Amino acid sequence: MAPAECDPIIEVENLKVYFYTYAGIVKAIEDVSFRICRGETYCLVGETGCGKSVTSRALTRLIYPPGRIVEGKIYYYPEPGRRVDIMSLDEKELRRIRGEEIAYIFQDPSAALDPLYTIGYQVGETMLAHGRVRSLREGVRRAVGVLKTVLMPDPEKRVKSYPHELSGGMKQRGVIGISLSNRPKLLIADEPTTALDVTIQAQIMDLLTQLKREHGLTLLLITHNLGLVAEYCDRVAVMYAGNIVEEAPVDELFSNPLHPYTRALIRAVPNPLAKIENLEHIPGTVPNLITPPPGCRFHPRCPLAFDRCSREKPLLKEYSPGHKAACWALEKS
Ligand SMILES: Nc1ncnc2c1ncn2[C@@H]1O[C@H](COP(=O)(O)OP(=O)(O)OP(=O)(O)O)[C@@H](O)[C@H]1O
Ligand SMILES: [Mg+2]
Repeated sequence: MAPAECDPIIEVENLKVYFYTYAGIVKAIEDVSFRICRGETYCLVGETGCGKSVTSRALTRLIYPPGRIVEGKIYYYPEPGRRVDIMSLDEKELRRIRGEEIAYIFQDPSAALDPLYTIGYQVGETMLAHGRVRSLREGVRRAVGVLKTVLMPDPEKRVKSYPHELSGGMKQRGVIGISLSNRPKLLIADEPTTALDVTIQAQIMDLLTQLKREHGLTLLLITHNLGLVAEYCDRVAVMYAGNIVEEAPVDELFSNPLHPYTRALIRAVPNPLAKIENLEHIPGTVPNLITPPPGCRFHPRCPLAFDRCSREKPLLKEYSPGHKAACWALEKS
């Protein structure tokens, strides 16, 4: 999707999130800006601890002490041209938006489900909480239909099952059903398949793609799996230590990665689009975000680093339509 024709559903400008811990201030998100276009699958990718989950939670201000959104603007567009300023909403309005408009699916389906209640009850309860049905009984009755939508096997039986009676894939279908029961416009899937084996992973991703098409959803997919990125995403943002270091349409990212971190990430994993024989690891480790490196946070691990990189933070710059990267070495060439 070309940026010029982007009808944004969410826009983030200069987001900064800190965690005020006993050990010090964790500068988790330094300065993140991006927008997601209506109808696309936008991916956040990067190593563990780079800030993918914190960024996605910040979209509906799901950041609680010791964390705080220190700076930034977040705008949600329920429909083209109607702008909602997320930072100025009160908790009641936020609760309505979370779930009804913007829904989350988290990594571990077991943690997202209450072990004491059946799947049907949990779907029904969510529908009741958001006023989609008038009684819990009606919600539980409608749950069968929801479970059919997420292709739960034997939904009439499964609606009465407790979470422990379901397989990992069924649990995740249940969680997706709960998330979709209020017909959200934006679905944020944070590592939705990490806890599942590879075949189930593919089934869940195919289900999300199908639901996206049928319900006209926009999907924010968070993953560290470049294979999933290549197969399911339209545009990708690569995060490193609290910053987006590169953003591009998916094919462009794999065929012409610009940032040394993206290149290293692609070389570090087998993926279907890049023809690279030998896998390489990225030397060094992700920096401590209490005392992050000055300038470009990647510079201590970067093969192209030069003196400017440790002094000045590079900003995202557009090198071709829709393809941005933040790297001083690119300015040199
Ligand atoms: N409650 C918290 N208290 C202190 N630091 C936190 C807290 N939550 C997150 N962080 C820090 O914020 C940074 C970003 O974390 P985040 O969970 O967004 O990473 P991630 O990219 O989602 O990683 P993963 O791939 O492991 O899920 C990390 O350095 C993490 O330690
Ligand atoms: Mg995470």
